[in-house]
Amino acid sequence: MSVVAVPSAVSALSADTPNARAVPDTSAPVGIFDSGLGGLSVLRAVRALLPHERLIYVADSLHAPYGERDDAFITARTMAIGEWLVAQGAKALVVACNTATAQSIAFVRERLAIPLVGVEPGVKPAAAASKTRVVGMLATQVTLKSTRFQSLLDRYAGDCRFICQPGHGLVQAVERCDTSSPQLMALLESYLRPMLDAGADTLVLGCTHYPFLDRAIREIAGERLQIVDTSVAVARQLERLLDANALRNTDASLERLPRFCSTADGESQRQLAASLLQLNASVEHVDIPSRAPQAV
Ligand code: DGL
Repeated sequence: MSVVAVPSAVSALSADTPNARAVPDTSAPVGIFDSGLGGLSVLRAVRALLPHERLIYVADSLHAPYGERDDAFITARTMAIGEWLVAQGAKALVVACNTATAQSIAFVRERLAIPLVGVEPGVKPAAAASKTRVVGMLATQVTLKSTRFQSLLDRYAGDCRFICQPGHGLVQAVERCDTSSPQLMALLESYLRPMLDAGADTLVLGCTHYPFLDRAIREIAGERLQIVDTSVAVARQLERLLDANALRNTDASLERLPRFCSTADGESQRQLAASLLQLNASVEHVDIPSRAPQAV
C-alpha cells in the first residue's frame, strides 16, 4: 500500500537554503477521529488541555458502529480516514476510538507519517483504584475480544476480577443523541446491575461514546461506582507527543472552533456538540472512500 508522502505539517526549507531542514508547522491542525460521535468526549479533553491547537474532527457515522464490524473493515476505515486527515494537513492523529485502536493502530502507525495517539480501556487505573477488587468493564465486542485488550488484562488486572460486558446498543443510542430515554436506561441497567450485584466499585468506560452516558450511569449506580474514563490521559499523551516532536502550538491567536466533519449528514453531531460540549459549529459532510481490501 502506498504511504502518504511528506506530511504537510512539516514544511521543508527550500532546497538551496544552506543546511535545509524540515521545520514543523506548529499551526497545523490535530486530526481526531472516531467511528462516530464518541470521540467528541476525547476532543473535549484535548480542548481543555491544549486550547491553542486547531482541531479537525471526523465522525465516521455512516459506518458506526465499528464494534460489530470485522477486522479488515475497521482497519480499512482507520487507514482511509488517517490518510484523509494527513491530506488535510494534520500534524498528529488521535484515534479516539477504542475499537479502531484495538484493531488497527499498529498497522496504521507503520503507514502514516505523523505521530499517532490511540485510546485503550483504563485497566491499569481501574485495578489501582478498586477496593473491592471487582471492576466492571463496558466496551464493544471487538475491543473485548481483541488481543490488545487481553494483553492489557494480563499485564495490569493483577488480583482484580474484571466483569467484561459488551455494550450492545449503547453506541447506537449515543449516535441518536439518546442519553436518557427509558429504553436506554433499561439497557444500561441490564449491563450494570450484575456488576453491582457482584460487588464492583469501579466501572471502566472502554468506549469513547460511553462518557456521554455518565449521568445515566450515575442515576442507576449512584456513587457506588467510580468511573474510569481515559480521555484526559489521552489528551496528556497527545501533549507529550506534540512536545516531543516540536509540534505544539502556543499561538493563542489561532484559537477557534474545531472543524467538524462527518461521513453521514452530521445532524446528530451538531446536536451533541451543542448540547454536551456547548460548541455551536456547523458540520461538513465528507466522503472518505475505503481502499479496496487488498490494497490495505
Ligand atoms: N467510540 C468507539 C469506541 O471507543 C465506538 C466503537 C463503535 O463504533 O462501536 O470503541
